Amino acid sequence: MTPGQAHDRAAALRGLLARYDHAYHVLDNPTVPDAEYDRLFLELRQIETDFPEVRTADSPTQRVGGAPRSELRAVRHDVPMLSIYTETDKSEQGARAFDARVRKALGLSSEDAPVEYAVELKFDGLAIGLRYENGVLVRAATRGDGETGEDVTHNVRTIRQIPLRLSGAAPALIEVRGEIYMRRDDFEKLNQAQREAGAKSFVNPRNTAAGAVRQLDPAIAARRPLSFFAYGLGARAGWSVPTSHSTMLDAFAAFGFPVCAHRRVVNGPDGLIAFHAEIEAMRNSLPYDIDGVVYKVNSLALQEQLGFVSREPRWAVAHKYPAQEEITRLTGIEVQVGRTGAITPVARLEPVFVGGVTVTNATLHNQGEIDRKDVRIGDWVIVRRAGDVIPEVVGPVLERRSEELARFDLLASFPTCPVCGSHVVRVEGEAVARCTGGLFCPAQRKQALLHFAGRRALDIEGLGDKVVDQLVDNAIVKTPADLYKLGVLALANLERMGEKSASKLLAAIAASRETTLARFIYALGIRNVGETTAKDLARSFGSLDPIVRADREALMRVPDVGPVVADSIVQFFAEPHNVEVIEQLRAAGVHWPEGPPQSPPSGPLAGKVVVLTGTLPTLGRDEAKAMIEGAGGKVAGSVSKRTNFVVAGAEAGSKLEKAKQLGLNILDEAGLKALLEGAGADTDEQTLSGHDQ
Ligand code: IVH
Repeated sequence: MTPGQAHDRAAALRGLLARYDHAYHVLDNPTVPDAEYDRLFLELRQIETDFPEVRTADSPTQRVGGAPRSELRAVRHDVPMLSIYTETDKSEQGARAFDARVRKALGLSSEDAPVEYAVELKFDGLAIGLRYENGVLVRAATRGDGETGEDVTHNVRTIRQIPLRLSGAAPALIEVRGEIYMRRDDFEKLNQAQREAGAKSFVNPRNTAAGAVRQLDPAIAARRPLSFFAYGLGARAGWSVPTSHSTMLDAFAAFGFPVCAHRRVVNGPDGLIAFHAEIEAMRNSLPYDIDGVVYKVNSLALQEQLGFVSREPRWAVAHKYPAQEEITRLTGIEVQVGRTGAITPVARLEPVFVGGVTVTNATLHNQGEIDRKDVRIGDWVIVRRAGDVIPEVVGPVLERRSEELARFDLLASFPTCPVCGSHVVRVEGEAVARCTGGLFCPAQRKQALLHFAGRRALDIEGLGDKVVDQLVDNAIVKTPADLYKLGVLALANLERMGEKSASKLLAAIAASRETTLARFIYALGIRNVGETTAKDLARSFGSLDPIVRADREALMRVPDVGPVVADSIVQFFAEPHNVEVIEQLRAAGVHWPEGPPQSPPSGPLAGKVVVLTGTLPTLGRDEAKAMIEGAGGKVAGSVSKRTNFVVAGAEAGSKLEKAKQLGLNILDEAGLKALLEGAGADTDEQTLSGHDQ
């Protein structure tokens, strides 16, 4: 490639990638598969590495980059970034008062025609000014005090919704203003990840977005999912500005900016009031927080005529909705039991009107969150309810804590499950406490029944979600043992279940009585006991009773059973309810062949861990698995240092990548077959097929 060719190809790739980014991130309508995007992106990056002189500021490879800043530089706004007057009267009177002020300032009488308004949403994020020179993003600045803001270009470049280059004919200079915000689902995902990592969760989307934009390190900002809506104009040169606000927003959309679709041009106060009501009704189903709507005089000429009073334009107003965060008293803490036995602390609150409904309880997530937030019974707390998200306690208002309040200890307050009375435990290193009731606890019954009937467990075909829901909700089935007492009548009376499917299901239940010990152990749904561990246990013990009686040490003698798995097993069988259900299952005729304990399997793959990824040319996944296990090997679901072989088929993805990184042995199907025939499984170093690593 000559420098000239590199230059042309890079320009073409930048154009293509910008189009694909816009389709994906702004229009929400991807036009090429991710793999194609990635291919082009990598091609561009390679060209830029080989010919650094072709790299430009608007290249998509430059979104994240550069060292962390030591401080945020101050930026003076060419055109001040003002705020809007907020109408505090939340009734329709607020809209009428604004229209009356506008008409008066324009000298209109009641005979004159209604004023035309552009109406839009008031996004709850932070205001930003994006400066483009000759179509290229050169600077992004926060509002600051309106005169001077902070240079946050390094972080704003990471936001995929914000174009690095404008499409179409670009003005010499244009500063597009708008709001950076975080979607509620993105916020929830981010917080879920924080909680799982035991890290402090974020308070609300707005603070999180504002914090991300003001990071010194763009790599951190890049990991926060931010979005953007354009709604205003700052400095400009060489652009013939449209004549109305609404057509200006159309022009922004044509430049490639996201512009919110919930906007309209209306006439007079009735139009404002209708929009206010309409948006209020859909506020909760919007994917992001808003705190009101904004009314703007549509004609830019009239806007100019109206001008400003102090720091606020006379031509715009924000008309708010009731808050989504309020303060109330935490009167108690109760717990809820989830489908997997997770015990979630729930705050009992003095009723408070927030986010459009009266809230009386809110989630506290888990003990760790309670500790980090330091919420105590008796505290005044901030409650947040945004959209259809479950109300949540954000934190205590510490200034209002006047007396000594005790810290809350979930295990001390709820040593046993409020639903079934089994013990509640919290495993070291885990965020959530769990009910040990397993099969016996009604809260966990549905989940447990589905697992019990699963294909790799007792394999009862036809026992799906819908049937299980009805059986449990109608108290027909409490434990898996009850399945074996079902008659055609009870089943045929369920919704969407005729006599024919009822007898088919009954036949499947009857057939499941004959099983294997490994399947039975797996079917019990003991935490941390997957299929492989169940097989190991079955083989090492040979029969069920010794497993039920085994202590931690005995269990840990089974290959690959460590302290965590051993503890889960001991805990499960220590719960009398679980043992009872097992007895009932045996009494109902569930049986399996038992035999003496067997030593670990021999065979060419004895003790080896194999991971399968991608599609093999002739072998199905189950088939390959059975063959590997038949040769004494184990099949694991994920690649780790303990993996001995990775068998990769077509479209192998991240597992293959990881295997390469770890320098593991990678085989294709032919290589696997050679291995199964005994060729060289002892030498981990050896590569067994033509697969290059
Ligand atoms: S227009 C001169 N439009 O509200 C008018 N602002 O108090 C400038 N905001 O700092 C603002 N949604 O962060 C405008 N559709 C919208 C808005 C909006 C949210 C925020 C913005 C600004 C504050 C004004």
